[in-house]
Amino acid sequence: MVGPIGVADAARGRGVGAALLRACLHDMHAAGYAYAVAGGVGAPGFFRRVAGAVEIADSSPGPYAGMLRHGHD
Ligand SMILES: CC(C)(COP(=O)(O)OP(=O)(O)OC[C@H]1O[C@@H](n2cnc3c(N)ncnc32)[C@H](O)[C@@H]1OP(=O)(O)O)[C@@H](O)C(=O)NCCC(=O)NCCS
Repeated sequence: MVGPIGVADAARGRGVGAALLRACLHDMHAAGYAYAVAGGVGAPGFFRRVAGAVEIADSSPGPYAGMLRHGHD
């Protein structure tokens, strides 16, 4: 599993999220993982753009159901 990933508001849009995601995926590859799965994805376009991610059909709510706190919840 990769993510969830978050970058502070003030630091967004400068490539920090992409650098974090790529570093994580390279580490996982070095550890022998052939695939990574992201659960509880808040920004699917980011994962598509940076890592070529594709959606797993009918996978919601996914493995983190009930485990994540979103914003003001
Ligand atoms: C999503 C998030 C991690 C991106 O971090 P960031 O540092 O701003 O992203 P980057 O600047 O590295 O962007 C990398 C690329 O992804 C694109 N991108 C960033 N956020 C995106 C979004 N929400 N949807 C689509 N594309 C996005 C950027 O345009 C950039 O594209 P480029 O290569 O053409 O320039 C950040 O906006 C965030 O913390 N969001 C709130 C939490 C969240 O939704 N996390 C995802 C849950 S798993």
